Formats: sequence, C-alpha cells, structure tokens
Amino acid sequence: MKVLIIGGDGQLGQCFNSIAGKWPALELVFGDKADCDILDYEVLQKVFAHQKPDFVINCAAYTAVDKAEDEEEMAWAINATGAENVAKACEPFNTTLIHISTDFVFEGNMPVLLNEEMPTLPISVYGKTKLEGEHLVAKNCEKHFIIRTSWLYSEFANNFMKTMLKLSETRSALGIIADQIGSPTYAVDLADAVLQIIDSDSKNYGTYHYSNEGVISWFDFAHGIFEIVGENMILHPLKTFEYPTKAKRPAWSAMDKAKIKKEFGLEIPYWRDSLKIAISKI
Ligand SMILES: NC(=O)c1ccc[n+]([C@@H]2O[C@H](COP(=O)([O-])OP(=O)(O)OC[C@H]3O[C@@H](n4cnc5c(N)ncnc54)[C@H](OP(=O)(O)O)[C@@H]3O)[C@@H](O)[C@H]2O)c1
Repeated sequence: MKVLIIGGDGQLGQCFNSIAGKWPALELVFGDKADCDILDYEVLQKVFAHQKPDFVINCAAYTAVDKAEDEEEMAWAINATGAENVAKACEPFNTTLIHISTDFVFEGNMPVLLNEEMPTLPISVYGKTKLEGEHLVAKNCEKHFIIRTSWLYSEFANNFMKTMLKLSETRSALGIIADQIGSPTYAVDLADAVLQIIDSDSKNYGTYHYSNEGVISWFDFAHGIFEIVGENMILHPLKTFEYPTKAKRPAWSAMDKAKIKKEFGLEIPYWRDSLKIAISKI
C-alpha cells in the first residue's frame, strides 16, 4: 500500500519518516511545500497522477497560532482551502484521506473529556481555519479520517519540550501556565497510530481524537520535562492572564479517546512514558 505524506518536512511528517522501517508493508512517500504545495491544485493532481497513493496523510498546515491572528488570509488558505484541495485531489484516485486536525476547534470552557460528538466553537483564527478544513475534507472526500490531536511534541522541529530544554541552558527559573489543561501528544506515537489505522483497512470513516493518556497543565508538562532530565529548574505557576498571547487558547482541551481505541484496538501510551522516550532521542 502506498501512503503519500503531505507536509513531510514538518514535525509530524518527520515522525512518519522516523518509523517507516517499522511498517515494511507500507510504502511511505513524502511531499513537502516545494514539490507538493497544497495551495496549488494542479500540482496536487500531478503528484496524485504520478504516485497513485492508496492513502494520503495531510500533515501540511499553517500552525503558527499567534501569527495566524495577523496573517488570517494565509491561515485560511492553507488550513481550509489547502485541505479542500487535498480532499478534492483524493476523490478521482479513490484515495483515502487522513487529515490531521486539532483540539483548538473546541472553545475549552467545559471541563469534561471532549468526545467527537461534542459541539465545536473555536476561539482563535487558527482554530476556525482548522475547523473549516475539517468541514471541507468531509464534504469533498467520502473516504476520510479526521484525527484531532493536541500539544504535539517530538525530537523534531520546534515544540514545547524543545523550548523548555533550550531555556534551561540560560535560565534557572521559569513561569509556566498552569490553568490550561489538556494532554500532550508525542508525535511519534500519533504517527504510529495513524499507520495502524491504515493497516487496519477500516472503513469506519469519520472524526477521531488522539493524544497521549493523562490530563495535565503546561506547568505539569514542564515539571515532567525537567524532572526527567534531572534539571533543577524553579517553576512558577502562571494564570493565562499573566502570560498574554495574541491568540486565545482553550482553557480545557482534554479529549476522550475511547472511539479511536475501540475502533482500532490502539493502546495509547501515558504522556510521561512517551516523554521519557522523546527526551532520550534528543
Ligand atoms: N504542533 C501542535 O502542537 C499541534 C497540535 C494539534 C494539532 N496539530 C496539527 O498537526 C498537524 C501537524 O503539525 P506539525 O506540528 O507537524 O506542524 P508543522 O511542523 O508546522 O508542519 C506543517 C508543515 O506544513 C507545511 N506547509 C505549510 N504550507 C504548506 C503548503 N501550502 N503546502 C504544503 N505544505 C505546507 C509547513 O512548511 P513550512 O514550515 O515551510 O511552512 C510544515 O512543514 C497540523 O495539521 C496541525 O494543525 C498540531
């Protein structure tokens, strides 16, 4: 089975590359912005005609959450129109699309585990554009899986874990937000789960939630990072208003993963166990 990974240069894209050897039955091919620009439908058509992929994983996105408030047009283009282009390109080739989305589609004011049926209400430009991307994927490609994930980190690209480790080189104390609650996701675990979905040959298309197990704050996450590396960092818990950002973020975004676990028999690692593995790869 041939699997085309679009956005192959990004954090999640690189994670797929790192575990390709674990899935010998799947032929993974990668497209980046230079050769597989999701804003260019003709380019997509040519790539699809050449590769004839059985599955496409769309990891390409505009992910700069704060910058999106100023660059609205670009965020809408990539996260909504780009996703629509990929979905439309899939249909004629009978390709199944796995589209990656986000916990930021939720408002985040309901402290319950968020399942796939719960109402969405994004509070940022990024969240709105990603939600529209979901709608356009569902509308334009029948054979689709939308996987919402949260707080991605890994040994690749820039992310919270790497920022913390970098800051520890110059700082002995940090203030970290303690009133935003969610679940970190080791992007390698997510990549592995997505390939397991492909391998399952399931036709139960639709939306699924995936993160690591455990519900924590950013403060807890930072605490875990420094504890694992043995760094004596002084951490001060902050309230969201004490660390203003351009984009609003959901105060609560912990998701219910019962659906994905049941449908694909996934065993999802606990966040701290995966964090140890990620840190060991740095
Ligand atoms: N990071 C998180 O915490 C997080 C949380 C929840 C959900 N997600 C979702 O998870 C997915 C993967 O995120 P990630 O962390 O891997 O993000 P990332 O590292 O920013 O990767 C996104 C990739 O898409 C590429 N891209 C941008 N515009 C493109 C275009 N027009 N055509 C083709 N590629 C394009 C980017 O290239 P350039 O860098 O050159 O622009 C980048 O390589 C995204 O859908 C994101 O919304 C992420």
